[in-house]
Amino acid sequence: MIKTIKDFDIKDKKVLIRCDFNVPIKDGKIVDDNRIVSSLPTIEYALNEGAKVILFSHLGRVKEESDLEKNNLEIVSYRLSELLGKKVTFVNETRGQELEDKVNSMMSGDVILVQNTRYEDLDGKKESSNDTELGKYWANLGDIFINDAFGTIHRAHASNVGIATYLPSGIGFLVEKELNALKILDNPDRPYIVILGGAKVSDKIGVIDNLVTKADYILIGGGMAFTFLKAAGYNIGKSLLEEEKIDYCKDLLDKYKDKIILPTSVVLSKEALKEVDVREATIKDIGEDEIGVDVGENTVYQFEKYLSDAKVVVWNGPLGVYEVDRFRKGTLDILKYLTDNNIKTIIGGGDTAAIVSSNEELKSKLYHTSTGGGATLEYLEGKELPGIKALDK
Ligand code: 3PG
Repeated sequence: MIKTIKDFDIKDKKVLIRCDFNVPIKDGKIVDDNRIVSSLPTIEYALNEGAKVILFSHLGRVKEESDLEKNNLEIVSYRLSELLGKKVTFVNETRGQELEDKVNSMMSGDVILVQNTRYEDLDGKKESSNDTELGKYWANLGDIFINDAFGTIHRAHASNVGIATYLPSGIGFLVEKELNALKILDNPDRPYIVILGGAKVSDKIGVIDNLVTKADYILIGGGMAFTFLKAAGYNIGKSLLEEEKIDYCKDLLDKYKDKIILPTSVVLSKEALKEVDVREATIKDIGEDEIGVDVGENTVYQFEKYLSDAKVVVWNGPLGVYEVDRFRKGTLDILKYLTDNNIKTIIGGGDTAAIVSSNEELKSKLYHTSTGGGATLEYLEGKELPGIKALDK
């Protein structure tokens, strides 16, 4: 059994908590603070137990000097401080005297947030390559390590796997909740239905290969549906196509034609990211210059029929070009159907979770909305998650 934060006596201890505060930021403002809010239960528990809390997170990807300022984690410390209702001391370095001094002068109940762990990537990718010396350095700052960064659990980085190697370690409440929700899929009530969307077939091959024999149906929408439709012999106009995946889709449709469910109607536009000459048509009637931007009403109706007696649904990827409000309709219609009918639904993070997160009512009715896109995908692919593997059992 993996240990959780509750298995440790953390009073007066320095507890290093890896969070995933990789939040979207636009014009200097946090657009969606869901990942920060989701981290609160573990942080608040540690504070209430009288721990000294040292938080780590990455933000974005740091490849060159110019990536530093836009990925400065300080902005998160302000929001976190508001949410916790207490001071969060931000340390503007990932190692050095200032960090060590601040950690050493902490009182129980204090919180420190360390600068973006990926600042260490500028000098030889030390964080992302799980540099041994860096993992040891961070581990030396504390007594116990708690990994509560589900969104990063599929990465083997110094700030999760590295630190865990050198300290007693466990998971926080967020990771525990995510793993418990996903565990349902190991032995699901049936019918068990997978909904997949998003742009590319290539991003979902691992999931399809792993789940096609386990799920009762896989409903496919989004840009990726058009490569399948092409493989099934339809004209898809200028819709998204992954030429090199046509054979893969053909094979899959041959083997599992009753399991892989494709759209029967689509919304078409002359431009993918704009509402220009929008119309709805059956998949037999896509014009040469048209682009599929959402599933049509008939598809929604058809998908609802499959979902009507579903006991468990897992969903990854929007069914339309979600950046344009109008092209979110198919996704929102199906989400509403699932919640109206109390169907146990797990939203696998990423863009689908972002759509859900802007709608409190939907969010509150869904069984689980994951904070990890890539992490959930890897779990659904059946892969071992390095952030979990590294923890004490
Ligand atoms: C995410 O947003 O999926 C996680 O924070 C992981 O980010 P990464 O893909 O840059 O490792």
